Amino acid sequence: MSNADLERIFDTSDEWIVTRTGMRERRYAAPGEASSDLSTEAARHALDRAGLRPEDIDCYVVATVTPDFQFPATACIVASNLGAVGKAAFDIEIACSGFIYGLPMAASFVRAGVFRRVMIIGVETLSRITNMEDRGTCILFGDGAGATIVERTQAERDSFLSCELGADGRVPELLYVHAGGSRNPMTQELLDQKKDKVEMSGREIYKYAVNKMVGTSKNVLAAAGYTAADVDWIIPHQANLRIIEAAAKRLEVPREKIVVNIERYGNTSSATIPIALSETIERGDLHDGDLIVFTGFGGGLSWGSIAWKWIG
Ligand code: UT7
Repeated sequence: MSNADLERIFDTSDEWIVTRTGMRERRYAAPGEASSDLSTEAARHALDRAGLRPEDIDCYVVATVTPDFQFPATACIVASNLGAVGKAAFDIEIACSGFIYGLPMAASFVRAGVFRRVMIIGVETLSRITNMEDRGTCILFGDGAGATIVERTQAERDSFLSCELGADGRVPELLYVHAGGSRNPMTQELLDQKKDKVEMSGREIYKYAVNKMVGTSKNVLAAAGYTAADVDWIIPHQANLRIIEAAAKRLEVPREKIVVNIERYGNTSSATIPIALSETIERGDLHDGDLIVFTGFGGGLSWGSIAWKWIG
């Protein structure tokens, strides 16, 4: 779905969207294609790249706000799609911070010896919960999935250096779907009002996003004994190019060290970071010992950063 496609649906312009967000295209899942389908594809890709079989993964975790069903967990379906019936599987739901919460959790499982290998997938089919009559939100969101495998290695070095995660649930309405949960069960009236779709106060989120990304990035680096000058890559949540560039400027990290793919995919919530990581690997840009900061924020409100050493 390009900006030109959106111009044909409502009153907007490519120029407005590009200057305010940096987005040019976003992808929508095909009719009938669910989050578990995108996840299964991403999972197969990750397994191929790692030279592993589905049964080599001990636990499947899916981070999403657009699960196939309210329950059971999408991760159960994904593991079964792959033929890994019987393996541990569950979902986490912390909106755009899903991968930022999921990666340290996966690493901690591995470190504690609970599992040898954990797959963490970030996936969204946000097109299903986007109000195409709200030009302030619908231009932003896309669908996608990224999968990562965390495993125990023989290396003496550790990849997971530090993390800082946080949340503030005082005003959930800043970014939420009003109806369909236990607070406001779905009614025909709420459906007619499109209360099954995403609502957002963009300006408020914008301000706190930059502050949280900068603050937590600095903190995780300091906790690991580094400064921004040591960073090889920042892989941020892709919500708005202006947010990313403002954070990079305040962190004093050169633009070429910031991974950005927002122009092609828009905001895919919990999927943005694993997709950006995957593309960085594909380009051959990640090298053994590289220091990465993953940083993100989103509904909750929620936020976090991770300092990570690439071993490979
Ligand atoms: O994953 C985390 C979730 N979300 C975010 O990170 C979002 C953070 N916020 C943002 O990225 C920005 O706030 C937006 C991109 C959502 C909006 O940009 P903005 O610069 O804050 O614009 P605005 O909402 O204040 O709107 C400015 C103007 C308004 O017109 P008036 O009232 O000034 O006449 C809007 O009606 O732009 C208008 N507008 C549009 N015009 C053309 C809003 N959406 C559009 C549109 N096309 N699609």
